[in-house]
Amino acid sequence: MPSPVRLASFLIAVACIFPNLGLAWPSAPEPCVKIAGKAFVPPADALACQKSFPFNETLRKNVLTNMARVFDFFTFENYYLNSPPPFQESTVNIRAALAKFSAKKYKTDYDFNKDLYDFTTQLNDGHTRWFPDCYTAFQNVLPAPVITIEENSVQGVYIAFDSVEFLSQLGPEFTSYFDSIGFDWKRLAGAKVVQIEGQDPYAYVDHIASTVSGNYLDHGIRVNSVFTSYRISGGTFSQRLGDLAGPNDVSKDSVTFRLIAVNSTKVETVKIPYLASFLGIPFTDKASFWQNNCVATDFTNGVDLKNLTPLRSTRRLARAEIIDKSNIIAIDLPPVFQPSLPPVAGSRGVIKSFILPDKKTGVMFVGSFGGSFGGFQTDVVSAITEFKAAGVTQLLIDLTNNGGGFVCLGHFLHQYLAGSKIGYPGFVSTSRGNPLAQKIVAGDIAFGLDATFTFYTADNWAFLNGTQMPSSFNYNTPPAPFVINGRRDPTSQRFHDTCELAFSQPVPATPPFDLNKVAIVNNGNCASTCAMFSTLMNEKHKTKIAVFGGKPGTQMEFKGMAGNQVLEWADLDTEIKTAGVKNDPLAPPDLLVSGNFRHNWRTAWSFFDENKPIAYLSELPKFRFPYTKDTYNNPQNLWIFAAGKLFT
Ligand SMILES: *[C@@H]1O[C@H](CO)[C@@H](O)[C@H](O)[C@H]1NC(C)=O
Ligand SMILES: *[C@@H]1O[C@H](CO)[C@@H](O)[C@H](O)[C@H]1NC(C)=O
Ligand SMILES: *[C@@H]1O[C@H](CO)[C@@H](O)[C@H](O)[C@H]1NC(C)=O
Repeated sequence: MPSPVRLASFLIAVACIFPNLGLAWPSAPEPCVKIAGKAFVPPADALACQKSFPFNETLRKNVLTNMARVFDFFTFENYYLNSPPPFQESTVNIRAALAKFSAKKYKTDYDFNKDLYDFTTQLNDGHTRWFPDCYTAFQNVLPAPVITIEENSVQGVYIAFDSVEFLSQLGPEFTSYFDSIGFDWKRLAGAKVVQIEGQDPYAYVDHIASTVSGNYLDHGIRVNSVFTSYRISGGTFSQRLGDLAGPNDVSKDSVTFRLIAVNSTKVETVKIPYLASFLGIPFTDKASFWQNNCVATDFTNGVDLKNLTPLRSTRRLARAEIIDKSNIIAIDLPPVFQPSLPPVAGSRGVIKSFILPDKKTGVMFVGSFGGSFGGFQTDVVSAITEFKAAGVTQLLIDLTNNGGGFVCLGHFLHQYLAGSKIGYPGFVSTSRGNPLAQKIVAGDIAFGLDATFTFYTADNWAFLNGTQMPSSFNYNTPPAPFVINGRRDPTSQRFHDTCELAFSQPVPATPPFDLNKVAIVNNGNCASTCAMFSTLMNEKHKTKIAVFGGKPGTQMEFKGMAGNQVLEWADLDTEIKTAGVKNDPLAPPDLLVSGNFRHNWRTAWSFFDENKPIAYLSELPKFRFPYTKDTYNNPQNLWIFAAGKLFT
């Protein structure tokens, strides 16, 4: 019998000589078939499937042209040339990087997309990232999520104490894999970590924060993203794996730890394997993997809303949030860690509210500004009404892992707490006044469009005196001059949001609680709308803000990435198509692949320094606390601890 290699080279030779013979290829193992239909697969197998698609020059040109033209709209592009301290880690010449990717030789489509994914991730702006659905279809899961806590006055890294209860929820398909390879991950829960990949554990955490985490300009906040932490996801108490134990990437098979197991004194070396969880759309083989996960869908690109029947009739709602793909397989916070106190009214969705045993402290865990636009507002009203009726006098707001959401819900919560007497509850904002942006506004005006169609028309905004702009007003031409890092970067005129027009619940005229008795806790992972809300509370009301966790001895901001509005690629394309300028040479082409190059479209300018976006103004929390065995992943214990420290 000929060896497979011989046979293959024989067939190649035959096929070259007689290309039209239509010879059947000997069935090579097909890497995507091997993993089809499985919820969990070894990362190397997932990677083999993803790497089976050859590099395609047409797709490169398409994606890079799209990206280059979308970057024209990215408010912070020129800041990256020399990011100011403490954000200097995020310094990069974006255009030079794109030129490098367009010239580089790639073997596979994966390699190309991985470069773009890593590049945009390391911009550390969660609003501005390339998500190729084909290659973000897996989340690696390490059965050893890490935490940082203080024990006996010393901070250190540990494997999460609850990891058995937590990860067992992934079910027998997950746990039986480790049984099948004879790896006992359960005994690692609570182990003290001495080294990771041969480095001091905090040094390795810094490395993940610099290369994997993304989303936040502040390195200190990214450090907290590396650890596992509690959150609200899907309306329930959930636990995020963290970026070491749950990266959206399958390029690593294992992580080697030096650790001391619970009840042991011996330092041992343990190589902990990852198992990849499939987040994408089911497939049966390579062709269907590509078709279902990689090819552009009806929703990849935008539409001309003028062609929609029936026509839109409500205002579009601005969003500012991160995309955390780990929410797709969100698992619950183990029940023993969930609050034992009864929730108060308005706790069904992204907000969970409680009254602490002291009877004076109301807690609102605002896990997101997304979900139901109307439901959020009624939940705020219900919770605060119940707090007042129960005699609560101080309010603790937990913003841990709040990824943002509707811009106007941040304004709503701010104005509800501060009273409508404060007037405008948001930031002064702009978008970039590039030539295509100017043509979009002009096109919208020519078609007589308004805020029910587009985000670019002027009636989305108000003049700085609070009067809503008429939809026919061109706030983009001429643009206002602005220079950053030596580059001219004209912007739109400055304007306000018009969120009050969208509120469904009345806002009280005066604050329901003394604003000095309102405090905020979080883990720094507070993105977009959450960052704007907490920055407003800091800038306007000097609210006490406490951040938990982080690397000992290093500083950390209280807010993550803070743009004023994000546009998904499909949103921007809808603006372009609806304004009738898709044929303009500056317009980004439709994507051929299923993916999203989202960008930060609007800047929020600080009230402390009107020439600085809040994203680039360092605002530190007044309080920093390490987590302890008691408070890590235990929101109720954390709130009781924080209430004792912050309301004195
Ligand atoms: C590259 O991608 C384009 C667009 O999807 C496709 O039409 C073309 O066939 C691909 N080229 C190769 C060599 O596969
Ligand atoms: C460690 O020792 C304590 C006290 O003997 C025991 O209750 C606990 O189950 C042990 N934990 C492990 C993981 O062996
Ligand atoms: C607010 O400013 C705009 C633009 O300058 C002006 O047209 C409008 O009359 C002003 N409104 C009020 C109430 O002053």
